Amino acid sequence: MKVTAVLLAAGQGTRMKSDFPKVLHPLCGKPMLWHVLEALKSVTTEKPVVIVGHGAEEVKKYVGDSADCVLQEPQLGTGHAAMQAESLLRGKTDYVIVTYADMPLLRGETFRQLLETQRSNSGPLSLLTVVADDPRGFGRIVRKTDGTVDAIVEEYVATAEQREIKELNVGAYCFQADWLWGALHRIQKNPKKGEYYLTDIVEIAVKDNLPVQAVVHDDFIETIGINTRVHLSEAEAALRMRINREHMLNGVSMMDPASTYIEVGVRIGKDTMIMPNTYIHGNTFIGERNVIGPNTVIRNTTVGNDCRILASVLEGATLEDDVDMGPFARLRKGAHLKSHVHMGNFGEVKDSTLHEGVKMGHFSYIGNTVIGARTNIGAGTITCNYDGEKKHPTEIGEDAFIGSDTMLVAPLKLGDGARTGAGAVVTKNVPEDTLVVGMPARAIRKVQRKTKK
Ligand code: UD1
Ligand code: CA
Repeated sequence: MKVTAVLLAAGQGTRMKSDFPKVLHPLCGKPMLWHVLEALKSVTTEKPVVIVGHGAEEVKKYVGDSADCVLQEPQLGTGHAAMQAESLLRGKTDYVIVTYADMPLLRGETFRQLLETQRSNSGPLSLLTVVADDPRGFGRIVRKTDGTVDAIVEEYVATAEQREIKELNVGAYCFQADWLWGALHRIQKNPKKGEYYLTDIVEIAVKDNLPVQAVVHDDFIETIGINTRVHLSEAEAALRMRINREHMLNGVSMMDPASTYIEVGVRIGKDTMIMPNTYIHGNTFIGERNVIGPNTVIRNTTVGNDCRILASVLEGATLEDDVDMGPFARLRKGAHLKSHVHMGNFGEVKDSTLHEGVKMGHFSYIGNTVIGARTNIGAGTITCNYDGEKKHPTEIGEDAFIGSDTMLVAPLKLGDGARTGAGAVVTKNVPEDTLVVGMPARAIRKVQRKTKK
């Protein structure tokens, strides 16, 4: 049995008031379209078909090889959009699942239920509905007395009585492929809007006395459709809770899930505690027993076990175990902090490795540098790695002591056990176990003391 999915993504998304195609707007870090494609993977392994139109080039570029794209030009409605898949799929599949790409919260499980319902339906189609008090402009489901579906009535043509109907059309259908293509051609142009509505296909089946089944969903959240940015934010909040719930069920603690922003794909080990107002994005892996946040942003970063990260920003970094950071520390691309590193407030590390047990407590910039184990970086130390044209490397040995406010002018090497005095400007390499000092202050004149009363 072959099942193929068709995603309708050609519409302009006028109500989004956006220059970007609607289906590429992100939800928890991934475009809307990604979520739909992902959910469909649990019901079919066939390459899906994406119907593109508005912003076709951008959507196609995003989709790449993951689906076949067909251009719908002009966009004459959802029925017309589904019809565009015929040339690719006629005779090639047993079932076609058509779904709107602006329904990103539908789960794989729901698509499976839809397929199962259609497999046991003697008629040609089954659709997904939801029962909800807030109709949100969705089409209403009119049932026959025998319980099968009679019609989908769009809100703007619905009678006052039909508007009271609580069962709504979600926008996901499973068709017998052989029947679908012929039926799509029989859809009449809607006289008011000049469009071909996929929803009218229900009446075509009914006219031919073929039963239409429905899977009734009761989770309105899952059926949030995105027409405006208000819906987008509602979907984002719902998806965020879904993601957070999953982490919590896997052993991650969250003090306040409502203010914890974790994108899809992030992995977190058990007994890690995420404090409020924390953002964990991109390709990030966090190990066990860490305390992250509050007020922390982590992106594309790997964190080991037993770390504490308070009010800090980490991007493209690696932390090993028992690292202590913040508040107000910043790690940039290529920062690698080995185990037991302590990095206090207002430090910045970029393209550098801090070996085991390095301490840098206050106000430092470390760039293009390797620091040996147990070395102490005094307050205000700066690696002067950029001469206006090129970046230069700094190497600091093990057990070194860099005095407060040292300027390390790269390229530069300091041996194991080297020491620098406070305020030193180091321009030449320092051999191991050697102390260098900068220009000490000297007395220049007597001054008048100001005594405060
Ligand atoms: C549609 C349904 C409505 C349902 C609602 C649920 C129809 C006529 N109405 O209304 O019954 O309750 O979804 O979400 O189907 N698209 C194309 N080509 C087009 C037009 C649309 O690909 O020519 C795509 C859009 O990009 C979108 C999807 O089809 O992803 C749905 O279109 P939209 O205009 O959002 O339909 P709704 O008004 O939401
Ligand atoms: Ca819609």
